[in-house]
Amino acid sequence: MPSADLSPELFLKAVDRAARHLVETLESSEKRRVFPNAPPGVVRGAIPSRAPRTGEPLDAILDDFERLIAPNLTQWNHPSFFAYFAISSSYPAMVADLLSAGYNVNAMLWRTSPAATELELAVCDWLREAMGLAQNPASPWHGVMHDTASLGTVHALLAAREDIGEVNVHDDGLAGGPRLRMYASEQAHSSVERAGLVLGLGRRGFRAIATDRNFRMKPDALAAAIREDRAQGYRPFAVTAAVGTTSTTSADPVNEIADICEREALWLHVDAAYAGSVALCEEFRPHFAGWERAQSIAVNPMKWLFVPVDLSVLYTRKPEAVRRALSLSPEYLRAPEHQDAPNLMDYSIALGRRFRALKLWMVMRAFGTDGLKERLREHCRLARLFADLVREAQGFELSAPVPFSTVCFRAVFADARDDAEQDARNERLMNAVNATGEMFFSHTKLHGRLVLRLAIGNIRTEERHVRDAFQRIVAEKVRQ
Ligand SMILES: Cc1ncc(COP(=O)(O)O)c(C=O)c1O
Repeated sequence: MPSADLSPELFLKAVDRAARHLVETLESSEKRRVFPNAPPGVVRGAIPSRAPRTGEPLDAILDDFERLIAPNLTQWNHPSFFAYFAISSSYPAMVADLLSAGYNVNAMLWRTSPAATELELAVCDWLREAMGLAQNPASPWHGVMHDTASLGTVHALLAAREDIGEVNVHDDGLAGGPRLRMYASEQAHSSVERAGLVLGLGRRGFRAIATDRNFRMKPDALAAAIREDRAQGYRPFAVTAAVGTTSTTSADPVNEIADICEREALWLHVDAAYAGSVALCEEFRPHFAGWERAQSIAVNPMKWLFVPVDLSVLYTRKPEAVRRALSLSPEYLRAPEHQDAPNLMDYSIALGRRFRALKLWMVMRAFGTDGLKERLREHCRLARLFADLVREAQGFELSAPVPFSTVCFRAVFADARDDAEQDARNERLMNAVNATGEMFFSHTKLHGRLVLRLAIGNIRTEERHVRDAFQRIVAEKVRQ
């Protein structure tokens, strides 16, 4: 019987080759298209319909990776990737993910990986402290890691529903209980409404609140909606405020929303999935004013803190509500409980837990909070620079304020007959620029109108990439 695993020599050789491949790719990504030029089905069509019966050499597999897979991956680490929220990995985080996979860490119980559990709690505290979110001795912040903010928000709202007290969904389910309703602005990420679907509230369990001309939730409209809903027999239970909405990165007035939540005894969840990272920089903290009054906050280091997908932190001041909502203790998972030895599976729907903390720990140590701040500030400077270019150019306009590192803008075609033609030509412009493969940006809709959107967040993006992006867009406008 041969050794069950491959030999250590083959592993070392393959890791060396994989690391060299990454370095080569990252250090020369400008030579590559941001996203591949192949039609759908190319990769699927080139993969045999059955797995091989006998093992193949790792070198042959890596050959295929380099020939077929890598060229057909969208290059999220490309310095001219400006779409969605531009997110990138970094060398320290890659080392961490290798180690985590190597150890096959599963931090479901403290005893199944003590260091992973303790590092997770410690690093969540590091990040909280670095973001200026002071510890609250009366109801301390408790941070745990989830894969995504979508899942973090499900957990937050699950806890919010549990916290109502008068409904015992844990034991009785939803049937026969009050008609629950929760709120977020019309600019909130769809994951908030989707969390309502997961919680069984249905689409009518969610109400979108109007925003002002800067795309911030209107507190008056929220208060009026809650009043109206109570009069109609709904039981409001939670509000999600966003700091850094997906389309424009607007920040809801959290303090005013917190006033309403306190008055109405509603759970306040803050979605800072994108922008939370920039709270590391003191000058951006006014956008977050009031978030310390929330019951829960979601922040995604995987969005703008140079760790790869996935890693989202959910902070809550009521961790016991999450535990209560999910409490079930099968005998096979029973473990001695200590104050200092928590079992993180108690705070998540999923039992198995990846060792996500390692990559954030390595990134925070390798760059230091000063280094991270420097990079975040530079991204915001570059966004302001791009906004200035838009403002100063003929035939372009800004579509929203630029509080962080994302710019919403539009080309204005003087000869367009109507809004529909303006929108169509903007979309063609974007598609034409993206088709070159030299940069990648995306769009959104604001007030029903198509808007172009450039997000800066990659660790390798420099001023020349941003200036170049604008030049390409200007040059393409002439052709549309
Ligand atoms: C503001 C905001 N919240 C939540 C999400 C969902 O993120 P995730 O992919 O972590 O679920 C996004 C995604 O872009 C977002 O922009």
